[in-house]
Amino acid sequence: MYFSRLQKMILGNVVLLLAGISLAAETSSEQQFINRLIIHADQGKDVIAPEIYGHFAEHLGRCIYEGFWVGEDSSIPNVRGIRKDVVEALRKLNIPVLRWPGGCFADEYHWKEGIGPRNQRPSMVNTHWGMVTETNAFGTHEFLDLCQQLGCEAYIAGNVGSGTVEEMQDWVEYMTSDGNSEMANLRRTNGRDKPWRVRYFGVGNENWGCGGNMTAEYYADLYNRFQTYVRNYSGNKILKVACGPGSVNYHWIEVIMQRCRNRMDAISLHHYVRGTGNWTRKGSATQFDEKEWFALMKNTLFIYELLQKNIEIMDKYDPRKRVDLFVDEWGTWWDSEPGTNPAFLYQQNTLRDAVSAGIFLNAFNEHCYRVRMANIAQTNNVLQAMILTKGEKMIVTPTYHVFEMYKVHQGATYLPSDLSSDTYRYDGQELPMLVCSASKDKAGKIQLSICNINPKASAELICEVRGATVKSVTGRVLTASKMNTHNTFDEPNTVKPTILEGIKLEDGQILATLPSKSVVVLTIE
Ligand code: AHR
Repeated sequence: MYFSRLQKMILGNVVLLLAGISLAAETSSEQQFINRLIIHADQGKDVIAPEIYGHFAEHLGRCIYEGFWVGEDSSIPNVRGIRKDVVEALRKLNIPVLRWPGGCFADEYHWKEGIGPRNQRPSMVNTHWGMVTETNAFGTHEFLDLCQQLGCEAYIAGNVGSGTVEEMQDWVEYMTSDGNSEMANLRRTNGRDKPWRVRYFGVGNENWGCGGNMTAEYYADLYNRFQTYVRNYSGNKILKVACGPGSVNYHWIEVIMQRCRNRMDAISLHHYVRGTGNWTRKGSATQFDEKEWFALMKNTLFIYELLQKNIEIMDKYDPRKRVDLFVDEWGTWWDSEPGTNPAFLYQQNTLRDAVSAGIFLNAFNEHCYRVRMANIAQTNNVLQAMILTKGEKMIVTPTYHVFEMYKVHQGATYLPSDLSSDTYRYDGQELPMLVCSASKDKAGKIQLSICNINPKASAELICEVRGATVKSVTGRVLTASKMNTHNTFDEPNTVKPTILEGIKLEDGQILATLPSKSVVVLTIE
């Protein structure tokens, strides 16, 4: 749990000081804290599911339209209407899974409006996100083509809020059946002979809120009914995902686990973070002070407690850990960029977002025995995006770089570690300064990702690897001169990873200086 981790870290500090291990920095008269990390290289048990590095794309603002879909006649280079530059950038992340079509949009989406000749598809109004016209140009065929271009699994969110059981059943059959049925034949008429493989299917989204304002008890009944008709056709094995809580709602997960656990493969959890205490002023993505930096780090670190408590409830009903926890929406949520449609949730993305993402991903790695998917919100132009576009221009964000650096954890075995971290203090409050996770990849290399959340001080790290001999270490770092440094269309490479210089190997121990406000990945061989 997060607070006990903090207490452990402070205790570790005291112990080290008493033992006289704290070293005086050569350049300073003040005593400098040495952060000590022990990685247990021979104690790995659980694999970090690649899907923890998953993504989410909703029909919201410019995520799908402009972000992915430009249409076949666009002057922007595309493959069957899908932007080439965006696909290329995402493929570099080894994107494992993409969730679609929402979000809140999922519970008002009627998939049959998004198939067939594009010029004959009816339009609808996207009532959740700005009352704009949704042309349905991007539908099931386009999404599954996108997944194929990305080389990732498809995760479809079905409509429980305003849809019918029949509609949901038909959708699964349309996509995955090879039989001689009305839906499979309709798919063939629309140009796709063979069924697609669809791995994940969500039965509703946020049904306690935008997905129908239901009670947990009511949704549990609906879940049990709807999921009955989410069938496996033609060898396709679909994993069913029940709607879970948004941040703290332990009653919801308790009820769903109690009543539905034997009919689901996973339950979702959503958690968004910001640097203020309220949703009406979430704060600016780029104009903030240390108070809001600290608040974001604190809110992000709460993910450890949130995961732990949800997992404890799951353990009560599912001690053998058959049901997965999918954090299928997470990330930072700021006030929309000035001058943009507030309903489009377009925000810039700074070094602060990158450090927050690093913490989240470390937490997911640490809980990989139960967290087997996570999907950052959202891929393009919405919330904590990987990619921002402006016409034909495209840039990647600091958060994108964290995903690229952390991809080494995908499919690796999580390694337990003990960290004695310095403290980041602000205005009478304290947080652990370093947050890390480690894994051993298939080639036997140890990957350590570590965030220094202190925006003012670098951290000295001594790392010992038990159960393995260390021969060499290399490192990459993402940092910048200011807390709010970000990439723009004019200067797209201001924040990007560089080599971490000055790493030493002494008596088998690794010594490194982690710059202030940074995300570091060390590869240990
Ligand atoms: O990601 C934006 C919105 O946040 C999603 O549509 C919804 O599920 C959540 O509330």
